[in-house]
Amino acid sequence: MTDAPSRVRSLVAGNWKMNGLEASLNAAAAVRDALPGLGANAPGVMICPPATLLTALAAVAAGSALTVGAQDCHPAPSGAHTGDISAEMVKDAGASAVIVGHSERRADHGELDRIVREKAAAAHRAGLTAIVCIGETKGERLAGLTLDVVRRQLRASIPSASTAANLVVAYEPVWAIGTGLTPKPADVAEVHETIRKSLIGHLGEAARGVRILYGGSVKPDNARELLALPDVNGALVGGASLKADDFLAIIAAAA
Ligand code: 13P
Repeated sequence: MTDAPSRVRSLVAGNWKMNGLEASLNAAAAVRDALPGLGANAPGVMICPPATLLTALAAVAAGSALTVGAQDCHPAPSGAHTGDISAEMVKDAGASAVIVGHSERRADHGELDRIVREKAAAAHRAGLTAIVCIGETKGERLAGLTLDVVRRQLRASIPSASTAANLVVAYEPVWAIGTGLTPKPADVAEVHETIRKSLIGHLGEAARGVRILYGGSVKPDNARELLALPDVNGALVGGASLKADDFLAIIAAAA
């Protein structure tokens, strides 16, 4: 087992995916208002709303411990790319991070590791933290390929100049997303240990400070067990981040 990184503050990030209208800002405000009561061991807390709500959510979060992330960005800073938004625009809207390489983008938009790396580099260029998602499909797990897949995705998706300050890795097994299924705790720990070792191989000892989140059906009733595992430095939460009470229960489990 890898040594647990000494002073890594964990992060619980909510990925709202394609959910959220203006009324959903009430849930974000409820999360914001509960954060001061969580105590000194509270994790960092982030909400990644759809792009339409970035600016409004940044206003809700202003002056609080709540931070804001986007769900995607284009590699280029600007240009003729109808419908896309750049990392610079994400930053300008008040976000401090952006998710790249989510499996839903890889599946829905055919994004390959190379484009994920370009998007992560764009995030860094704009001064954002890149939350790079990796994870195996059900078929890859059944074939015993999980560790090979995450090593390959890491190697190809992470800019070589990444640091503990501007990189977060999210391990999200594709088959666990939105299904209510999660890997066995020992399997999560094995993958996170592999990710940590790979990161150290690519980025050096500073990679001990990179936060590695687990994502995929994290709920209030399984969060404590998952978040206590070695090298699990927080969670990327989908469905359960849409309700303030559920999201706060997960945040409390990380504290
Ligand atoms: P669920 O928590 O809904 O399984 O989604 C996980 C996820 O994809 C977060 O990015």
